[in-house]
Amino acid sequence: MKIVSASEDKNIEKRVAITPEIAKKYVSQGFEVKIQKNYATHLGFDDNLYKEQGVVIEQDTSKIYENGDIVVQLNLPVNENLSQLQENQCLIGVLDPYNNKEKLDELKKKKVNSFSLELLPRITRAQSMDILSSQANLAGYKAVIESFSQFEKAIPMMMTAAGTIPAAKVLIVGAGVAGLQAIATAKRTGAIVFATDVRASSKEQVESLGGKFLTVDGAENLETQGGYAKEASDDFKKKQEELLAETLKKIDVVICTALIPGKKAPVIIKEDMIKNMSPGSIIYDLAAVQGGNTAITEVDKVIEKYGVKILGETNILNRLPTSASNLYAKNIFNFVINLYDKDNKKININHEDEIIDKTLIK
Ligand code: NAI
Repeated sequence: MKIVSASEDKNIEKRVAITPEIAKKYVSQGFEVKIQKNYATHLGFDDNLYKEQGVVIEQDTSKIYENGDIVVQLNLPVNENLSQLQENQCLIGVLDPYNNKEKLDELKKKKVNSFSLELLPRITRAQSMDILSSQANLAGYKAVIESFSQFEKAIPMMMTAAGTIPAAKVLIVGAGVAGLQAIATAKRTGAIVFATDVRASSKEQVESLGGKFLTVDGAENLETQGGYAKEASDDFKKKQEELLAETLKKIDVVICTALIPGKKAPVIIKEDMIKNMSPGSIIYDLAAVQGGNTAITEVDKVIEKYGVKILGETNILNRLPTSASNLYAKNIFNFVINLYDKDNKKININHEDEIIDKTLIK
């Protein structure tokens, strides 16, 4: 069983799908591993580190997928690599099926089995493979760190002989995986933290981390069976807007994480609300790539309007790619092991297994 991985375009993706530690685990399970030369040198993982684990380094880019049974990546491969994929090969990654439908349909026609791990069901057995959780957790942490470094006041309350500095007030919009980590990180730094979400179950989670939950009056629970959010009704949106408009006047830093799978991110913070915030406030919009949770977010730009800075990046994980790769590679390894029939030494696409069936692009 051969497992292969090509370098990502490092201008847009610094994470890798196989770390030396995980290469060792594949080899110990009897896999042959092949990666492209200089695969992870930018992370301090020299080719020699991989070679020491028994990994083959492919010098010829056009042969990287040759004879590979399983191709593991972050994003959908670039066109020149995509065209190398052959019948019966398995491709595993975060393939963004909602935006890459045509390319994935092409692969399906070629009988390539593509697995997109953002489609993983949120069940206990899949937790060790859950790339959305492992990456969102780091994104939530990093968004707080980035915002605080832009904020020109101290975060914790400080009582000094020269006077008292009040604690910064932070609002987390969307208390899922990223939001909960953002709450924990902001609390650890000494901020006063507020959070809001459309799922009723998030209230208890926010409170257990020491956050204050802002409940939208008369809101129905907008949680799907799969644990995700449903799109809110106009009535809910109006009430949420009223609540947040008042709250934002006293907030210093906002971390936006609200997403609805397969849809554009909800616009929760309107321009008028930003206008009423204190100058010097910061908004970090983790939903930027999906359109943003504020009305004026622009991807990969720092917007400064009404004295408020609004930040949003294509991929915040590029700011901690080593930690993100360590977790991602482990998630992928666990997915591969579940897909692999060790006794018969073959891939087993078992449609009875919802982890496999739900992630397979059909
Ligand atoms: P996500 O990234 O799709 O969304 C982030 C958050 O935004 C969610 O909490 C969502 O409810 C919220 N949101 C959406 N629209 C909103 C709006 N208009 N206003 C305010 N908030 C809004 O979701 P994520 O973080 O991937 O996780 C969602 C759920 O899945 C969580 O409950 C989490 O605990 C659960 N989960 C379960 C796992 C399991 O294995 N059982 C593993 C990981 C997550």
